[in-house]
Amino acid sequence: KTEKLLSLLDGQPVIPVLKIDRVADAVPLARALARGGLRVIEITLRTADALECIRRAAGEVEEAIVGAGTILDARQFDEAAAAGSKFIVSPGVTRELLAAAGGSEVPLLPGAITPGEIMTAREAGLDFLKFFPAEQAGGAAFLKSLASPFGGMKFCPTGGVSAGNARDYLGLPNVICVGGSWVAPDDLVKAGKWDAIEALAREAATLRKG
Ligand code: 3PG
Repeated sequence: KTEKLLSLLDGQPVIPVLKIDRVADAVPLARALARGGLRVIEITLRTADALECIRRAAGEVEEAIVGAGTILDARQFDEAAAAGSKFIVSPGVTRELLAAAGGSEVPLLPGAITPGEIMTAREAGLDFLKFFPAEQAGGAAFLKSLASPFGGMKFCPTGGVSAGNARDYLGLPNVICVGGSWVAPDDLVKAGKWDAIEALAREAATLRKG
């Protein structure tokens, strides 16, 4: 399933991590990000109507590839998949989540930080993981040190990643892409400043794997 996930990502360097309070914002936000070049987006289950936001963005924004984030258990995995999520992101790895993902066509990108967590995910056949919370856990230097023992494992760092430090991560051999909320800040979403968000997306889309 890593192959499937990688083909969805299609080289996009930054995955916007979205927290959408108003359902009506989901479609214009997904459109603005896609116009800026970020078609792949992660809508987190951190708001009451997140599943409806996923449903609308996935159903109405043809150019967007909508995934679900902050999935904590198997029930949420199933609900997010049923809402039309093309991929699922979780902050960590649990047996229950791994089992849910094993029985689904929808790929899972689970979070791991420690060598033990990475080994648990590896045993489940995963070789592409979210590294979360990246900055707080030790940043690019920590992630770089995982490349040697875990040669086959690739990561998407998120948590404290921004336009200022994204290149530090994208330059690492074990990083495929980064995720972050900086391209869709709460205040711009609340104010419906779609052009400003499109501009942030356009800038982020020019970041490349170093
Ligand atoms: C995530 O779940 O990926 C993070 O909460 C995003 O972190 P950020 O808001 O620091 O970018």
